[in-house]
Amino acid sequence: MKTAERIGRLPPYVFSDLERLEDEKRREGVDVISLGIGDPDLGPPQFVTDALVEALGRESFHQYSSSQGERFYREAVAEWYGKRFGVRVDPDREVCALIGSKEGLANIARAFVDRGDRVGVPDPGYPVYSQGAALLSDGLPVALRMNDSFLPEYPFPENLAAVYLNYPNNPTAAFAGRDDIDRFVEAAHDGGSILCYDNAYSEQYFGDSRPPSVLQTKHSIEGVVEFHSLSKTFNMTGFRAGFAVGDEKLIAGLKKVKSQIDSGIPKFIQAAGAAALGRYSGAGRPVELEENAAELEARMGCLVDGLRRLGFEAAMPGGTFYLWLPVAGDGSEMVRAMIEVGIVATPGMAFGSAGRRYVRFAVTAPKERIEEALRRMGSSGGVMRFAGGSGQ
Ligand SMILES: Cc1ncc(COP(=O)(O)O)c(C=O)c1O
Repeated sequence: MKTAERIGRLPPYVFSDLERLEDEKRREGVDVISLGIGDPDLGPPQFVTDALVEALGRESFHQYSSSQGERFYREAVAEWYGKRFGVRVDPDREVCALIGSKEGLANIARAFVDRGDRVGVPDPGYPVYSQGAALLSDGLPVALRMNDSFLPEYPFPENLAAVYLNYPNNPTAAFAGRDDIDRFVEAAHDGGSILCYDNAYSEQYFGDSRPPSVLQTKHSIEGVVEFHSLSKTFNMTGFRAGFAVGDEKLIAGLKKVKSQIDSGIPKFIQAAGAAALGRYSGAGRPVELEENAAELEARMGCLVDGLRRLGFEAAMPGGTFYLWLPVAGDGSEMVRAMIEVGIVATPGMAFGSAGRRYVRFAVTAPKERIEEALRRMGSSGGVMRFAGGSGQ
């Protein structure tokens, strides 16, 4: 059977080989510790599931929603932007509901990337920008040059139709401040490209320094759109709920694409999402999210301390649930060695060639499991030969 050329352009799926090895270990009866995929083991707050159950019984909630989302959901998003970032947003023209932010990050390119258009993507970066967005829209991903703090170098490469950026960052856990945000917008304006800013981890910070929204820029938000997700913020990955907010022309293009493809987030999920966002009373996180962040920080501290004791160059990140660990050698080989002792992590290469000498850990397991993983690593010669790397 003939497949479309664009499918052929997608790179091989880095995870399939590792998934096979992991499955083999499970079949052998090995107790596998999962620190690979960024999918929280902790559940959503009780008030969110209560809202979901209540909404299931509401009249008409069994029926189609619309791809742009119910008005009550878009209003909840607009109110949240006001409370969290002090940014005024029009729920009708500047907000679009997303079936998870991944869908929106890919679909925006269908509206603004033509065949052969160049799309700036971070390397390392979340693979959807280069693949689901650029390649599946017949565009050409162009790696952005990044500095040692995993922030982009300026100016951006020439002739980009779109630029994707993401802070707090997956996989590196790099953060951007208000000045950085202004520089991102300035560089996109100067280069005449749209800016797709992925803020999926805005609520996963340790300490008091809250990540900004790109819409807080002092510059015009023309050509700028931000993507958000309830997945990580409220441990709602399986609910599939996110939203895009920004320049109304970009939102209109995204809505046009989506209206031809999907029929929106189920209404009862939108009700749960609106309840989640409505829990904020100001810019700070509600108590449930504070508790969640404290747990992630404790787990991360345990992982970082343990890896340092083993001789790795681990640095405590400012948030997210990822540790981007430089290793001595090829990260994919270290991941293989870890699977041998029943630990799953993600090779840095899964995020681009700049990740070759890194391994990404997600603290999606309780502290006791992380401690057990550290014990297994420490007694595995195969793993320990990667200690002491600098990522260069
Ligand atoms: C940087 C980043 N953006 C977006 C997503 C997608 O999240 P969702 O589609 O669940 O909203 C992820 C998921 O891992 C991510 O890491």
